[in-house]
Amino acid sequence: MGQTLPKPALRPFLAADTPVLAAIFVASIEELTGDDYNEAQQEAWASAADDEEQFGKRLAGELTLIATLRNAPVGFAALKGADHIDMLYVHPSAARQGVASMLCEALEKLAGGRGVKSLTVDASDNAQEFFSKRGYVAKQRNTVTINGEWLANTTMQKTLADGAAPGGPK
Ligand SMILES: CC(C)(COP(=O)(O)OP(=O)(O)OC[C@H]1O[C@@H](n2cnc3c(N)ncnc32)[C@H](O)[C@@H]1OP(=O)(O)O)[C@@H](O)C(=O)NCCC(=O)NCCS
Repeated sequence: MGQTLPKPALRPFLAADTPVLAAIFVASIEELTGDDYNEAQQEAWASAADDEEQFGKRLAGELTLIATLRNAPVGFAALKGADHIDMLYVHPSAARQGVASMLCEALEKLAGGRGVKSLTVDASDNAQEFFSKRGYVAKQRNTVTINGEWLANTTMQKTLADGAAPGGPK
């Protein structure tokens, strides 16, 4: 008999989570993006977590949610400003179990609840299919330089459903 997989749970970011989120960030880039980015590009991308203090400040300055499995963080997502998904990373050991879907849905609900009409993300090439399946539409292709490496991504946008119930308060 197979065992039922535990369901991920969500909670807000705490400063003490920074080292584990930095490790998730690096592992997910190293192990999940190799089909679309070469090693030098991956290293440049992952270097954003080299300075943990700086990385922690970035997480704390955004609306950062953590997904846990059996109380251990396995992924995180961060909303920058009102309407831009800045980060969405899942540990390779927890990939394809719906963790990113849960995180993304929570950010969409939180933003929608605050009256935001649409969300944007600069999606990495490996994440583009994930976002397409959630209704994000490609708007423009970008290239960014990090430590002398050029990385491509795609700005995608999703129109959020109007959260107000029909006939409800305006
Ligand atoms: C992209 C990422 C966040 C997806 O996380 P995840 O928890 O594995 O995603 P989910 O399990 O919620 O996937 C939901 C659906 O999205 C699609 N999907 C997810 N990852 C995919 C992939 N690598 N290739 C194609 N489709 C994918 C699938 O349809 C999947 O459903 P299925 O597993 O039933 O087929 C994860 O692969 C990751 O951390 N990648 C590296 C970092 C990164 O690029 N982040 C995005 C920065 S913008």
